Amino acid sequence: MEDFDLPFFQRLVIQLWALLLGLITRLTDALLLLWRPRLLRPYFGIWLAERLHSPYRARRTFEVVRALKATGQRFRELIYGETPLMTALLAFRRAGVGPGCRLVDLGAGRGRVLIAARWLGAEARGVELLADHVASVEKWLRPAGITLVEGDATRADLSDATHVFTNWLALTPETKARLVERFRDCRPGTRFITVTRPIEAEGFLVRSRHRMLFTWGFELVWIHEYQPGSAARASI
Ligand SMILES: C[S@@+](CC[C@H](N)C(=O)[O-])C[C@H]1O[C@@H](n2cnc3c(N)ncnc32)[C@H](O)[C@@H]1O
Repeated sequence: MEDFDLPFFQRLVIQLWALLLGLITRLTDALLLLWRPRLLRPYFGIWLAERLHSPYRARRTFEVVRALKATGQRFRELIYGETPLMTALLAFRRAGVGPGCRLVDLGAGRGRVLIAARWLGAEARGVELLADHVASVEKWLRPAGITLVEGDATRADLSDATHVFTNWLALTPETKARLVERFRDCRPGTRFITVTRPIEAEGFLVRSRHRMLFTWGFELVWIHEYQPGSAARASI
């Protein structure tokens, strides 16, 4: 907020809106976790890590610059935001996530989405570029059977994934294009869940589109199925 020179009233409205969304999403997350008490520990571990060291205040540290150099990305592609449990659960259910499935979150941040995959009984793995995000929560996630690793999503191994989630709203078209090339390593039938924009490439059939709540407001969530060889494109 400090980076934007906004009038006082506008600033106040934005801050109140963010506070309200934060309260609603934290409350619904906590209620959902009452059905899966073993996931309360990782969830509150992530929350505690956020309180101690906010992921929302990105800094150009040596590590961050090194990671960006390695992937050829821009600083603004690291903008942070999380998917509430309720949203992830609704999207994953619609995409058919459940026991026997393997969900991979590309650009996993601190793993909140992975808790939703475990809630549904699926295996959950996340790939996150920033070592700081991973280090601060990894010890909370591991006992719940959640794997979060540091790495470049555009090089992730997706060969065993049944579902791939990516909250790619901040990525440039170039980074998205590299990710889509990596998606082509997946098995036919793999489902892809993307936030804001669909996968606009041949072979990815859009199954459905939903407007859902995030920690910053409403966004479209797209569910696709990989059908290599088909001329399928976003059709909704
Ligand atoms: C908007 S956050 C989403 C976090 C989480 N997936 C969620 O929805 O709750 C996007 C994350 O992608 C990460 N990211 C950006 N480029 C990446 C890359 N090439 N490889 C892995 N992670 C990346 C950022 O550091 C950031 O943590």
